[in-house]
Amino acid sequence: MKVSIIGAGNVGATLGMRIIENDTADVVLLDIAKNMAIGKSFDLLDAASIIGHERYIKSTDDYKDIKESDIVVVTAGVPRKPGMTREELVSINARIVKGACVKIKSYAPQAIVIMVTNPLDALTYLAYKVTGFERRRVFGMAGLLDASRFVNLIAHELKVPRSSIETCILGSHGDTMVPVISKTRVGGKDITKVLPKDKLDLIVKRTRDRGAEIVSLLGSGSAYYSPSAAVFKMIGAILKDSGDVLVVSANLEGEYGLEDISIGVPCKIGKAGIEKIIELDLAPDEKSAFKKSAQAIKDSVKSL
Ligand code: NAD
Ligand code: LAC
Repeated sequence: MKVSIIGAGNVGATLGMRIIENDTADVVLLDIAKNMAIGKSFDLLDAASIIGHERYIKSTDDYKDIKESDIVVVTAGVPRKPGMTREELVSINARIVKGACVKIKSYAPQAIVIMVTNPLDALTYLAYKVTGFERRRVFGMAGLLDASRFVNLIAHELKVPRSSIETCILGSHGDTMVPVISKTRVGGKDITKVLPKDKLDLIVKRTRDRGAEIVSLLGSGSAYYSPSAAVFKMIGAILKDSGDVLVVSANLEGEYGLEDISIGVPCKIGKAGIEKIIELDLAPDEKSAFKKSAQAIKDSVKSL
């Protein structure tokens, strides 16, 4: 198996490390900053005999090296600075993503493309359009990360194991994300029965702001350990053909009453990519929040 990662920055390189150190696939790390990428792959390979794996990671700035990839992950772009929204990255990152997708289309026409670069949903849509691949093969990572942050904060508040919490977050990877409270359970119980509303509202807000909170604490760059873990999970579902249901930013063709948009929804993921889009029964307030989120993505796409 071969996974190529476009962008050898924080998310790309950490993802590369997870993939080789878990013996999942060989990796190509492509970056315009070729020497930086080569330095990272030398460093990662120097750890191989300590970790005990035989995987290879190759750094390059030449798209010929992504030929025959099973999966291409796009992390190339600029992360936000303290005080910036993800949307403010749209024009600079759209140019980078468009360039990468033209190359992916020509060098890895059979690959599944996982988008990471922000603003995630608008750029996933752009990647879908530029590659012209079937929609099952172009989708973005966000919902998995947002839900994991929500779970982490709930578990901390209630002092329960994270594994006892079931939830999902739909919509955009932005301020209008939609935590699905009606489907959030702790040890099988409705979350609203175990957490007072004011505390739950605060956790929802902290979840929404978590990316920005980390940006401001880091001072430079944005989160990458948890984002790379989320992409790694998606790669595992594809390569193992697991059929796991994961929230990914998928292009809709009528599902949820929406068309021509990439937005976070639960999808069955397997070796073909998106094998099925699952339509959840949402509460009325969740439905309207989802619509609002879709509008925010459409507005972002207009500015492309
Ligand atoms: P980073 O700055 O550490 O890495 C980005 C890399 O992209 C750099 O190494 C840069 O040289 C490279 N790059 C820039 N232009 C390029 C081009 N034209 N071709 C190839 N490589 C190019 O940033 P990061 O922390 O790895 O984040 C990358 C992107 O992912 C950002 O846009 C960030 O906002 C986004 N992100 C999204 C999520 C999510 O949940 N979807 C999570 C984390 C990060
Ligand atoms: C985050 C950004 C990087 O949520 O999208 O951390």
